[in-house]
Amino acid sequence: MKSNIVLIGFMGTGKTSVGKRLAEKLGLEFIELDQIIEGRNGKSIPDIFRDSGEIFFREEEIAAAKEVAVSEHAVIACGGGLVLNKINIDRLKINGIVVCLTASPSAILKRTDKESGARPLLAVEDPEETIRELILYRQPYYDRAADILIDTTDKSIEEVVSVITESLEKNESFNRQK
Ligand code: S3P
Repeated sequence: MKSNIVLIGFMGTGKTSVGKRLAEKLGLEFIELDQIIEGRNGKSIPDIFRDSGEIFFREEEIAAAKEVAVSEHAVIACGGGLVLNKINIDRLKINGIVVCLTASPSAILKRTDKESGARPLLAVEDPEETIRELILYRQPYYDRAADILIDTTDKSIEEVVSVITESLEKNESFNRQK
């Protein structure tokens, strides 16, 4: 039986807001991988990318995923690129049901625009084109990793949370009881 819920998906699909609400609703701990990485390095994600580059960030992400994979009864929100290194998913799946959130590129653009500067990979001249290219490359990784896939484009946070809790009720591998 698995007691964690692992949220994956592209930037701006709602992993953090949905994760916080879901954890609250189910009485689980909320863990955000990017926050762990920021805490360890004493700086923000954009500063880590700027000072040390993406390869260093991915190594930190692997270390953080390894650390939290042994948690129990937690909702774990992952960064959008976590799926690129298969060992992250292999580790998180041992005790976690993987929920992948998706959204249309234009919805992602709108959502990420509000926090411009927070996503180094989208700090480019044509972020919508970059979003499309990255999704094209990453979608097979998201699809392969997901136990549950949810399109959040036209859904509120509360609606997404309800879809997740309903799917978990039917999932025989998920153990909600502490
Ligand atoms: C990334 C997504 C970000 C963060 C980093 C890289 C990605 O997390 O981990 O900027 O490669 O998609 P969010 O998905 O929470 O924005």
